[in-house]
Amino acid sequence: MRNPRDFFKPLAIGAPDPVREIPFPPSRMIHFLDFSNEKMVAKVPDIAPTVDILLGNLEDAVPVDRKEAARAGLVKVGRDIEFGDTQLWTRINALESPWVLDDLTTLVGEIGHKLDVVMVPKVEGPWDIHYVDRLLAQLEAKAGLDRPILVHAILETSQGVANLEEIAAASPRIQGMSFGPADLAASRRMKTTRVGGGHPGYQTIADPDPENPDAPRASYQQDPWHYSIARMVDACTAVGALPFYGPYGDIRDLEGCETQFRAAFLLGCVGAWSLHPAQIAIAKKVFSPDPDEVRFAKKVIEAIPDGRGVHMIDGKMQDDATWKQCRVMVDLAEMLAR
Ligand code: GLV
Ligand code: MG
Repeated sequence: MRNPRDFFKPLAIGAPDPVREIPFPPSRMIHFLDFSNEKMVAKVPDIAPTVDILLGNLEDAVPVDRKEAARAGLVKVGRDIEFGDTQLWTRINALESPWVLDDLTTLVGEIGHKLDVVMVPKVEGPWDIHYVDRLLAQLEAKAGLDRPILVHAILETSQGVANLEEIAAASPRIQGMSFGPADLAASRRMKTTRVGGGHPGYQTIADPDPENPDAPRASYQQDPWHYSIARMVDACTAVGALPFYGPYGDIRDLEGCETQFRAAFLLGCVGAWSLHPAQIAIAKKVFSPDPDEVRFAKKVIEAIPDGRGVHMIDGKMQDDATWKQCRVMVDLAEMLAR
């Protein structure tokens, strides 16, 4: 798999671009499956071509008595199925759990040549990444692998948020980070039972009208995750890693899911987790740039071939910086069209 880091290198203004490299593979959704369930294993050949990333989950949501079956199911899937352009990932158990050593030893030894990324939950600081990095290096050497398996950190504890810049920079293996709102809410003692999304209790209220102090005051729901997601986007992009929004737990609320994913996309995330087939379609739609915006961005790039100076296009000011904004949009659209 191509290292995503090149995507965030500063764009060369006005650089000729007949053959631009694919900046990173399509990564709009990380689709979670539990391979301890044989019915799910049987569905993989149909599901794999419809998603950018397929993840065999070994951690939370997999019951303790099915941990080994989930690992064995993932090994079977990795051995039996050709994934083509779809990436194969796993979420291993937490680093202090009794299963994680077997997770890594078995998976790298058995299907390391197929495994693109290991997602590490509940990362608290760079020390967790250093541990996984060294262990992977040993296991890769033993298995004779000729390319490194990358590492993805889930940001889901207060300590992880406090250390997120150091985590992102901890190893060149860092492929990216996801935001884990359920564990993070528990770790912070936030008073919500939801997995991601807004909350009707998290509001700001307009001032009272001095002319009519008894009139009802407008209030607006706020996004309780904005601060952490924005920090994660900065920490990732600063080192050339990819930021992802995590799960949206209310599977029936497709509108809420789309709204949360879109806010993350606008802030800079490249994808999100999908926990149900309905969320795959939402992620595909949301994490692909809007065709009207792409058309406008192409118009700007064509009108300013050297990307310099100030220009008016459709009544809007364009300059060196807006040229780069347009380039981001067009690059993503072209990458997804391949
Ligand atoms: C995901 O793992 C979460 O805790 O939200
Ligand atoms: Mg979690």
